[in-house]
Amino acid sequence: PNVVVILAGGVGQRMGLEVPKQLLKVAGRTILEHTVAAFEAHPAVDEILLAMAEGHLDSARQIVKAGGYGKVVDIIEGGATRTETTSKALAAIRHQDGNVLFHDAVRPLVTARIITDCFEALATHAAVDVAIPSADTIIEVDDDQTIRDIPPRARLRRGQTPQGFRLPVIRAAYDVALRDPDLQATDDCTIVMRYSPGTPVYVVPGDERNLKVTEPIDLVLADKLFQLSAQDQPPLLGDAAYAEALTGRVMVVFGG
Ligand code: CTP
Repeated sequence: PNVVVILAGGVGQRMGLEVPKQLLKVAGRTILEHTVAAFEAHPAVDEILLAMAEGHLDSARQIVKAGGYGKVVDIIEGGATRTETTSKALAAIRHQDGNVLFHDAVRPLVTARIITDCFEALATHAAVDVAIPSADTIIEVDDDQTIRDIPPRARLRRGQTPQGFRLPVIRAAYDVALRDPDLQATDDCTIVMRYSPGTPVYVVPGDERNLKVTEPIDLVLADKLFQLSAQDQPPLLGDAAYAEALTGRVMVVFGG
């Protein structure tokens, strides 16, 4: 089966609000619900497992019940770190074989095309990541805030989610990782690369719209993007049509 784990165990420190950012509303629905709905609607997804921040499980249960999201098979409590949340989710998955996608709950604009591409890539690769080119130059700094390196931009990507794996592969990597006292990772591809060396991680193209709601400004952006996508039926517009829609809007603005 194809399982999706929605990682909603964080508290959203950078957003700086009482409530975790996945419970904030954009375009009429919580960010969490948008994310659940995107996977629920995708025909390749068999099961969804939700890992929710401590103290907020009831909100998650309510969202799932009210929305009638029948693919959600389990809602568990997240861990203190993203890696801990992932490993708890892995332990809660009942299947030995199949695929799993881990997705940030706070990327509510994930597209059907990305989800399709991830599962298709898992037919030929054991691990996949999703990434987009960087328009900005990425610089590496030292502790004293001087530049250490400016890697050539053509090879750099900005990592998004989902990150996908064949279940036995990610389980094996975590088995090793959890025995490492120095375990430090903020994502699961890092876990596979470090603890299952030699496993190539294939990169699927992401989407600029698949942004991670992190800072307050991202709420404005996400809201606007949902408004635009609501004018067309989901799944979200293809890139060319999207650019056209945007151009249309800009012309209206100038024309007015
Ligand atoms: N996440 C998680 N468990 C944690 C920490 C993070 O499941 N212990 C999830 C978040 O809920 C989010 C995703 O991982 O969907 C990406 O993390 P990030 O954007 O860093 O979220 P937060 O940790 O909530 O934000 P911050 O770092 O600002 O506190």
